[in-house]
Amino acid sequence: MSRLVIVSNRVADPQDAAPGGLAIALEEALQRHGGLWFGWGGAVTEQSPAQPSIRPWGAVTVATTTLERCDHDSYYSGFCNNVLWPVFHNRLDLAAFNPSFYEGYQRVNRQFAQQLLPLLQPDDVIWVHDYHLMALASELRALGCQQRIGFFLHIPFPPLVALGAVPQHKALMQALMAFDLVGLQSRQDLQHFESYVLAQADGRISHRHHYRAHGQQTRCEVFPIGIDARAFAALTDTPPAQQVQATLEQEYRQRRLVVGIDRLDYSKGLPERIHAFRDLLERHPAHRRSATLVQIGSPTREHLLAYAAIRRQFESLCGAINGDFGELDWMPVRYMHQVLTRAQLAGLCRSAAVGLVTPLRDGMNLVAKEFIAAQDPADPGVLVLSRFAGAAEQLQEALLVNPYDAHSTANSLDQALQMPLAERIERHQKLLARIEAEDVHWWCQRFLQALDQCQPAMPRKP
Ligand code: G6P
Repeated sequence: MSRLVIVSNRVADPQDAAPGGLAIALEEALQRHGGLWFGWGGAVTEQSPAQPSIRPWGAVTVATTTLERCDHDSYYSGFCNNVLWPVFHNRLDLAAFNPSFYEGYQRVNRQFAQQLLPLLQPDDVIWVHDYHLMALASELRALGCQQRIGFFLHIPFPPLVALGAVPQHKALMQALMAFDLVGLQSRQDLQHFESYVLAQADGRISHRHHYRAHGQQTRCEVFPIGIDARAFAALTDTPPAQQVQATLEQEYRQRRLVVGIDRLDYSKGLPERIHAFRDLLERHPAHRRSATLVQIGSPTREHLLAYAAIRRQFESLCGAINGDFGELDWMPVRYMHQVLTRAQLAGLCRSAAVGLVTPLRDGMNLVAKEFIAAQDPADPGVLVLSRFAGAAEQLQEALLVNPYDAHSTANSLDQALQMPLAERIERHQKLLARIEAEDVHWWCQRFLQALDQCQPAMPRKP
């Protein structure tokens, strides 16, 4: 069996008590297959990048590189998080199209290729992750790399009108076509990819799942990412999870908890969530003094202006709703700008009557799946889920909402809070069966099998 090489901008930190969804999914894949994980170690330096630092982690070798400050600013803060992230999440208004950002993006993709190449073995299979590294296969091929290279995009693939606004969209898509396999989260993402290739790049579908454009051919398919549902469910039995449940039961006796767990990102629809909760309290006063929204908004990309702005806006809305509706012994919103451990999150989900997952745009949203996994099957909570999360394609038995519509989201919240036990059980059983069948192992296996079926690459001229 080939060795697996994973490349992502961020590499999981074995010390991290609260790793993100991507890190968990990939660690899981690597520990099973053994192999190498290459990425940025998080250090920003004033000098050119040093040689990668290499260390063992269980069955995995972790190799990390550094970023020079100007590259961190133009690649990570610039092209990744001021261009690709907003554009791919339908926020053209937040994008800053500075040409130097793309130069930094190319430089760092080249740096990754140059540093990774000497670490590769002939039979390796390379799996590259996310929007930071869309140009990596083309850089590796230019250096003569012949191993199979797959790419998985964790965030949404944007529609033609949005992608076309990126001044370098042609170069970016040309680079993407250098991967042997491109994996996307949802059928809608694939439609967007297909319409770009056919309408914008003058390409064609050569045969099933294969797209030809810019003189290259790539296979592109949908692989919705899953979670390790059983492992997350098992976390609810751990002492930290049970402690959270005991605290919440004590404090919120007789009250219904609605839980939201997000990075404090403008794509997550957090202000809209507060509008919907306010609408619920205004139009369905029976939930006053009864329902409480516990919202975790974990710190993220805080050095970027758009993130500082969304934090200010969200915190002011939380203050206002509590000021308007709060009473001496009840506050409608409990907001924490913190990172909780995964066991604590499992406990929080287990205690909740409703999971409120309402991003304005999201590649998948693994919190939706974790909420389902953490429920007590005999008395499960209800998932209220945005139609604009990739997860909505799989989780049809959730209450699907349009997060921009505060009124109807509030109605769905009311429905969720009042849903009879039999209906809750029926919906939860179907959702649980789905996330258990289409879990992280299924995702990983399907992607790697498809990559295995791709023809090994021919060396390409620089
Ligand atoms: C999303 C992206 C990941 C990214 C994570 C945290 O989940 O898909 O690639 O690592 O956000 O963002 P950060 O900028 O801190 O890596």
